[in-house]
Amino acid sequence: MEVTGGFKIEEIEDTPALEEFYKSQGAFKEGFIRFQPGGCVLPRCFTRIHDSIQNFAVREDDIWISSFPKCGTTWTQEMVWNIVNNLDYETAKKVSLEDRVPFLELTGLLEERFFDVAEAESKISGTGLVNSVQQSAAISSPSRILKTHLPVELLPPHVLTKAKLIYVTRNPKDAVVSLFNHWRIMDKYEGTFDVFFDAFVADVAGYYCPFNSNVLGYWNIRDQDNVLFITYEEMKKDLQAVIRKVCKFLEKEYTDVQISELATHLDFKSMKNNPAVNKEDVLKAFEDMTRGSSSTAAKDGKFMRKGETGDWKNKLSEEQNRRIEEWVEKHTQGTDLRYTYTI
Ligand code: A3P
Repeated sequence: MEVTGGFKIEEIEDTPALEEFYKSQGAFKEGFIRFQPGGCVLPRCFTRIHDSIQNFAVREDDIWISSFPKCGTTWTQEMVWNIVNNLDYETAKKVSLEDRVPFLELTGLLEERFFDVAEAESKISGTGLVNSVQQSAAISSPSRILKTHLPVELLPPHVLTKAKLIYVTRNPKDAVVSLFNHWRIMDKYEGTFDVFFDAFVADVAGYYCPFNSNVLGYWNIRDQDNVLFITYEEMKKDLQAVIRKVCKFLEKEYTDVQISELATHLDFKSMKNNPAVNKEDVLKAFEDMTRGSSSTAAKDGKFMRKGETGDWKNKLSEEQNRRIEEWVEKHTQGTDLRYTYTI
């Protein structure tokens, strides 16, 4: 089926990896589809908002933050918002990050059957669950900051010609461990890690796969003046250096003391205990909204899980480690993209 922007939507080939993954989750009963060109996997319900995303009005003073999920998006959002907003920690702690930096396509990750409950709860609509595209459009200029996980080809037209964009990535071994936790706490995933891992390296794990294509799309444009490419591992290793890089990119100047204070504000423990950014509100909203859907979910799970580089060593078997390395090699060969697995 051809849709706005000359894209084609195709069914995903029914493989054992997809079938097992699909059976293990409760959030997407309508299944998943693939966009071509690019091959990005998205829930079928995303097709509802594809038009509005392709028609989204991008502004010259917009700042976009893009990533594959679990690669340090929230961390980057909080860093960028504070840099842009003159280190206004008071507002940063008072207003949820979901409202300060909306997630453009969030509504497209929600099946319509959840809308009634979502709309009925005013707290939930505050997170943009039922109107994320409108919520994003309503943010005033200058310096609107928006979050997306879309691959370059599915971005609203003109993001890459008009706006500034910061892309953050992370090594896929840590990303898959973090993504498994995410699906358990957000998307009613009740299967094993092994099933999840198989779907991830088969490039069909629910949304935004294939991982390497998402990264490479942005890696290939990293030298554009309006694009900044950063990594989770760089932030873990030397957060202040990344803050300085982002300040330069956004043409903001702060003193050494201010940069050190921002690094403290962005520290994992500080963010984990900060209700404006730790997504306890989003988890609660998802829990309320999906109440009654077939799953017990992992109620004890946290969005701010470990915040480390190298935790994959505690989760991946030797065989999985070998398979993910082969998969990276296969999909990045001929490029100079290299992930950092340990710091
Ligand atoms: P883990 O699950 O490995 O702990 P995203 O925001 O893209 O969904 O990424 C979430 C991941 O970033 C989670 O990883 C989360 O704990 C981690 N994270 C969030 N804030 C962080 C911070 N201040 N320092 C380090 N890691 C952080």
